[in-house]
Amino acid sequence: MVNNEDRFKKIIAHAKEYGFVFQSSEIYDGLAATYDYGQYGVELKNNIKNYWWKSMVQYHENIVGIDAAIFMHPTTWKASGHVDAFNDPMIDNKDSKKRYRADVLVEDHIAKIEGKIQKEVKKAAKRFGESFDEQQFLSTNPRVLKYQKQIESIKKRLYSSLEDERLDDVKRLIEELGIVDPVSGSRNWTEVRQFNLMFSTQLGSLSEDANKIYLRPETAQGIFVNYLNVQKTGRMKIPFGIAQMGKAFRNEIVARQFIFRMREFEQMEMQFFVRPGEELKWFEYWKEQRMKWHLGMGIPASEYRFHEHDNLAHYANAAFDIEFNFPMGFKELEGIHSRTDFDLKSHQEHSGKKIQYFDPELNESYVPYVVETSIGLDRTFLAVLSYAYTEEKLEDGSERVVLKIPPFLAPIKAAVLPLVKKDGLPEKALEVFDGLKYDYLCFYEEKDSIGKRYRRQDAIGTPYCITVDHKTLEDNTVTIRERDTMKQERVGIDKISEIISTRLKEK
Ligand code: GAP
Repeated sequence: MVNNEDRFKKIIAHAKEYGFVFQSSEIYDGLAATYDYGQYGVELKNNIKNYWWKSMVQYHENIVGIDAAIFMHPTTWKASGHVDAFNDPMIDNKDSKKRYRADVLVEDHIAKIEGKIQKEVKKAAKRFGESFDEQQFLSTNPRVLKYQKQIESIKKRLYSSLEDERLDDVKRLIEELGIVDPVSGSRNWTEVRQFNLMFSTQLGSLSEDANKIYLRPETAQGIFVNYLNVQKTGRMKIPFGIAQMGKAFRNEIVARQFIFRMREFEQMEMQFFVRPGEELKWFEYWKEQRMKWHLGMGIPASEYRFHEHDNLAHYANAAFDIEFNFPMGFKELEGIHSRTDFDLKSHQEHSGKKIQYFDPELNESYVPYVVETSIGLDRTFLAVLSYAYTEEKLEDGSERVVLKIPPFLAPIKAAVLPLVKKDGLPEKALEVFDGLKYDYLCFYEEKDSIGKRYRRQDAIGTPYCITVDHKTLEDNTVTIRERDTMKQERVGIDKISEIISTRLKEK
């Protein structure tokens, strides 16, 4: 049994070895928290994007997409609140010289207490056997109740101090909880300070403050500032949505955990504009829809969970995360937020342009309310990759690593392989390849033994391997091998495309 940390290391190494993800500028020893997607990574990424775009835009008659510029007028970020409030509270350890997010240090401490509760549950389950009632245990066991009370009181204090900007109290809390630096083990902390996460640069050649612009920290604002354009030109009627995917940039101070937290990443966001007062109904609708989207990839429901925000942003009246069971534990993958009319109203005030919708059914104008779904593409990639990574011991005693990526997301759909590199088999295999390449991304390879070539395709998650052998020359049949079962069946060349497309659709 490998532990989660080892498993995560293996996944990262595999992603590099097989052309999925490389450290950015690796020949110069890399750039922290920035990654490049390789030849298979980009295909998987594009397939995830495609799945999201289709589900949001193509399958909803009232959602359209846009592609806004990364650079935006600087007032955008004043209006959105990012200039004043897009900060992380950071604390340094004077001995290790490492910097941490103060709230994450406290949340990690809370996770440890939660771990103690889980231990109690496990112990009791063992003791009581089949008659064990977990809910009853959690609500009555004195030790568990004590832990729960501790958690509640820490959370209350942390979030109220953060909200009121009482950073000195956050530091006091860290000290009182006896939190030590995981590197140096010391409690020698600096004060807690706020750091803005936006990257800035200069527009044009003048380096004056007036020319300062930002790299967008979220794609959402490109949607809000285009609300009027899209609503008018698309003659959109509320409720309707605008979707967008693209790069976002955040100067994450604590950037680690591979592509989970990066400084340059991609978001897929949708803002759904609704009547004021109807936002919570739509919030529930999108919570359910988005979870269905995740489950549509064939990953079981046990790998996902909802997490309600303890600390609502000042503009939100409801917020849930969808968390995924990453190798480092359950962490945020997507956010669903009811953002009220905060953004549109603020852009209305800062731009002086009226941003309202005339509702013909109500015969009145209003600033629409917004329900947002916001998912990280790179985190979805990591979720798919880490769930797919499987080490298997085969019946003959050998081992294989196979990426059980849902076939419709797999980078390569079929590999076409001549059994040997002679007797006219390569020529025939290339004919087969040419017949399939217009429908699917295929792969052709003739080097090495067929077994080695199968293993390489397993390692990049190719669902089908088509082998051209001597019998093919006689009767135009090939073998088609399925990745997960490794079962092979003999089929006519004219049937391959139909077989693959039926199986890809099944998912
Ligand atoms: N418009 C709302 C918004 O941006 P967020 O929770 O800050 O909300 C949404 O970000 C999603 O973007 C997250 O759930 C996560 O999947 C992804 N994300 C955020 N920061 C990220 C980072 N530094 N690296 C990778 N993905 C990130």
